[in-house]
Amino acid sequence: MALRHATIEKNVILLAVLTLVTVVIGGLVQIIPLFTIESTIERVRGVRPYSPLELMGRNIYIREGCYVCHSQQIRAFRDEVERYGHYSLAAESMFDHPFQWGSKRTGPDLARVGGKYSNDWHVAHLIDPRAVVPESIMPAYAFLANRPLQYADMPRHLSALRATGVPYSDEMIANAIADLEAQANPEGDPAAVLRRYPRAVAGVGSRTGPVTEMDALVAYLQMLGTLVDFRDVRPEDLRQ
Ligand code: HEC
Repeated sequence: MALRHATIEKNVILLAVLTLVTVVIGGLVQIIPLFTIESTIERVRGVRPYSPLELMGRNIYIREGCYVCHSQQIRAFRDEVERYGHYSLAAESMFDHPFQWGSKRTGPDLARVGGKYSNDWHVAHLIDPRAVVPESIMPAYAFLANRPLQYADMPRHLSALRATGVPYSDEMIANAIADLEAQANPEGDPAAVLRRYPRAVAGVGSRTGPVTEMDALVAYLQMLGTLVDFRDVRPEDLRQ
């Protein structure tokens, strides 16, 4: 074996050809499954497009670079599953443009952080992480609470995502602004929002003043990983 290896190493052309063959095989293994992406990603019950408020929160998450320190993908390893919960399914990020899987974990994975803390905890933590986790090295994002959310172009935002394949209906697009405000308002009636976007966390905003960037970010964090109900379900039950 070692002898044959020596032959390859000494023959530049042979080495180049064999390197190419190896790279081509590796490339094909990565590329071929993408042609069958429709059947590779199993649809899973419960997964839905983001509500307008969650979507704005997600935009702020991306704008602020939260992904620099937080991943959103629980890998299928025992230690990860015990710490964070059920491993992430491909379908859970099928409407993500762009996805937020990441690989850098200065902070914990956030794929299932939804429902782990109260809304108030998130606000306190984002305003001053050290107030709730004394040893935290996370930066403070207090300014988000003072910045009114800019959402006038919400319907166009949803339409653009629909063009990429996210199944926003005409009704969702027409009601985008009303849904955003109804989800944020703690005294509003969230029935229509919840019908269109089941399990959305309503009433994250304050009673007075405009909807803030903080409200949107909290609505987003609170839904992460909560759409699929993993209790008592076997993989075959999850299929639509
Ligand atoms: C410099 C790295 C860094 C950045 C940037 C960062 N975080 Fe964190 N984050 C951390 C660390 C470290 C922790 C663990 C300590 C703590 O809870 O504060 C954490 C914890 C969290 C938690 C609690 C997770 C849990 O399961 O306990 C949430 C939620 C969170 N971050 C959200 C955010 C959001 C939203 C942003 C962007 C606005 C952000 N982080 C930006 C480092 C970061």
